[in-house]
Amino acid sequence: MESDRMNRRQFMGVGAKVTALGAVSRTTLLLPRPLQAGPNPAPPSDRVRFASIGTGVEGCTIMQAALQCPGTEIVAACDLYDGRLTAAREYAKKDIFTTKDYRAILDRKDVDAVLVATPDHWHARITSDACAVGKDVYCEKPMSHTVDQAFAMIDASQNHQRIVQVGSQCRSSIVYAQAKQIFESGALGQVTMVEASLDRNDASGAWVYPIPPDASEQTIDWNQFLGNAPKRPFDPVRFFRWRCFRDYGEGLPGDLFVHMLTGIHYIAGITAPPSRATSMGGIFRWTDNREAPDLIWTLFEYPGFCLSMRCNLNNESPETLRFSGTKGTMEIKADVLTFVPQNTEPQPEGYSILGWPEKLRTEYLQQWQQQHPATLPGQYKVIQSAETFEAPANYDYQVDHMNNFMESVRTRRPSVEDAVYGKNTSIACHMANYAYFQKCLAVWSETGRNIQAA
Ligand SMILES: NC(=O)c1ccc[n+]([C@@H]2O[C@H](COP(=O)([O-])OP(=O)(O)OC[C@H]3O[C@@H](n4cnc5c(N)ncnc54)[C@H](O)[C@@H]3O)[C@@H](O)[C@H]2O)c1
Repeated sequence: MESDRMNRRQFMGVGAKVTALGAVSRTTLLLPRPLQAGPNPAPPSDRVRFASIGTGVEGCTIMQAALQCPGTEIVAACDLYDGRLTAAREYAKKDIFTTKDYRAILDRKDVDAVLVATPDHWHARITSDACAVGKDVYCEKPMSHTVDQAFAMIDASQNHQRIVQVGSQCRSSIVYAQAKQIFESGALGQVTMVEASLDRNDASGAWVYPIPPDASEQTIDWNQFLGNAPKRPFDPVRFFRWRCFRDYGEGLPGDLFVHMLTGIHYIAGITAPPSRATSMGGIFRWTDNREAPDLIWTLFEYPGFCLSMRCNLNNESPETLRFSGTKGTMEIKADVLTFVPQNTEPQPEGYSILGWPEKLRTEYLQQWQQQHPATLPGQYKVIQSAETFEAPANYDYQVDHMNNFMESVRTRRPSVEDAVYGKNTSIACHMANYAYFQKCLAVWSETGRNIQAA
């Protein structure tokens, strides 16, 4: 069983080509090998009894992932809409306890850990309440809706010694782990620029989700949905398309930037929010009374590199991260990781000596060749080769991320994506939105714990 899981997760080196001139051999810097062992099958005493708070699209997706984790049992679910409580029972494949009041889940002695898969404006409150009564928490991304909430969530997890794991699953992906190895090997040289983008071109991608025909104040607890958000009359559009509205969500940064930020922070070893951010964008196409832009483009400043990040809901293009270094380029496009070295062998100057007299040109080239004998014709060396890695077709990083959470719950080892990690990526999202809506440069102050306009 165990070896079967290891095999499933092995990387496949799917392509390698030599790039250097006059290549005589190929140097494989990156050996395909398993990066992560699966969890040990849990004995019955190690069972984690799990409950989902919020059982919409992501709540049901995560329940399915949890069912694939050894030693995990789904015992209860909470949602504000009747139809989703029915869906939760269907996904759990048994008649679990269901409620519209998350406190009834937190009161239960048979719940060890909870999933918080509500809209963003509820993450902090439910996570903090769960920590206070001794539950571990898998909280969906973006962890927070405001800067203050991010710090309150760190306090809650630390003061009550609870595992809090944020749900950006690429943090547990074997593709990203391989990319981190390449980054840390120095093969990229000095990385001064990172680019990331993810674009969609359909109504679902733009959050124009259908409203179920039975949606009403009888089937939905609207007041509970609003929580601390401003009071409004019942509005099923706000309930089902909450990502479009700032009272409940963080728009494209909170929906999609956060995944790319999580991956970049992991690969580049970033442990703080960016220092500055500036954003441009607008509502160009989806003019349906939404507040969140359908295109946002942000430039973040990190120590040593600039990060350009874009999401556009008006054209389709897969998620792509590109790290540009002085020795090579590394790209993750969907599930495929490619490393392409650049030829950094010294070359004689050609361009600027075009304006020299022939005698000086000839002397320069002769001198250069004397100083660089190893690069005389016929003596070229292969520097290294381009390589491509791809996860196996059935690989599911969501399951790996859930397994990592369950391992932390059992062993009390810190989570791979804890509340501090979640704070750093969430604040980057808050900065992107701050810069966009305030039309300013957003500057992060770690000591002041706030974003300021500049
Ligand atoms: N990690 C990922 O890949 C991923 C993917 C999608 C969504 N998400 C995140 O998951 C969260 C939920 O997104 P979704 O797409 O499932 O939204 P959704 O609208 O499909 O589901 C949210 C559910 O939360 C319920 N809810 C709202 N307030 C609640 C409360 N106080 N108590 C209990 N239930 C409450 C609603 O009734 C709704 O059914 C968001 O934070 C989102 O960013 C993560």
